[in-house]
Amino acid sequence: MKLNNNQTQSQTPSTTSSLTPILLRLFTFSLFLSLPLLLLFSLQTTPTPKTPTTTTTKTTRNNPGIRIRPGYPTYQSYIQKQLNKTLNPKLRHLWTTRDWDRKISVFKTFFHRLQSSSILSNSSKSLCIGARVGQEVEALRRIGVSDSIGIDLVPCPPLVMHGDFHRQPFSDNTFDFEFSNVFDHALFPDKFVSEIERTLKPGGFCVLHVALSTRSDKYSANDLLGVDPLVKLFRNSELVRVKKVDGFGLDTELIFRKKQ
Ligand SMILES: *[C@@H]1O[C@H](CO)[C@@H](O)[C@H](O)[C@H]1NC(C)=O
Ligand SMILES: *[C@@H]1O[C@H](CO)[C@@H](O)[C@H](O)[C@H]1NC(C)=O
Repeated sequence: MKLNNNQTQSQTPSTTSSLTPILLRLFTFSLFLSLPLLLLFSLQTTPTPKTPTTTTTKTTRNNPGIRIRPGYPTYQSYIQKQLNKTLNPKLRHLWTTRDWDRKISVFKTFFHRLQSSSILSNSSKSLCIGARVGQEVEALRRIGVSDSIGIDLVPCPPLVMHGDFHRQPFSDNTFDFEFSNVFDHALFPDKFVSEIERTLKPGGFCVLHVALSTRSDKYSANDLLGVDPLVKLFRNSELVRVKKVDGFGLDTELIFRKKQ
């Protein structure tokens, strides 16, 4: 753009005016000299990343209702911190012993309710995002939703396979139902949501459990300041309903339906 402007500027006077040929020549000559510099400069400042690499912003673009927490200089450092919690042997032991039945039973209650309001059926192909050891996947399978799988940074077979929710390992229009209670762990909330909308089939449902009052998990990557900022991220879905729940420190359930 800049180069073109400069070129036309220098051409216009040189064809019309012959009053100041020396000045003009000097001008064009200096332009000519600066071209390589301009070119070099524009090459060096070309923005690159397709995948997120740094986290310099404090809020998501155009969405001040979601505050991104500082302290993740690179995507790698973010992943490392998430892994640190997920791989913690003590926590994993608790999740698979003390927490196991208790959590499955609560998840079963949530999913039963969704079954009775036709948001979920036994034949729904279902995904649980950020499922860790997979209690929610187990709950789905126990109530009859047999084609269910979870993803997390650390796999936990047979319920949970490896997958980053910022780039789901599934093709477009795969699932009828997606559930997650880890929205607060998303470093890129817009990516978290756009991946859900990509892998949901048209007409498919997404159920999120989120915290609207403060939550003090030091592994969270964002703070959600209201329902609207989250609704805004779902560009291809309708908000079906919002209700209060009591889900392991999360207080609000939002249900979205991907447009047909
Ligand atoms: C990961 O956790 C260990 C303790 O389990 C701690 O010593 C280490 O500093 C943590 N690393 C990061 C990057 O948080
Ligand atoms: C769904 O599966 C469960 C468990 O197998 C079963 O009890 C229930 O009747 C099924 N629901 C429908 C509507 O078929």
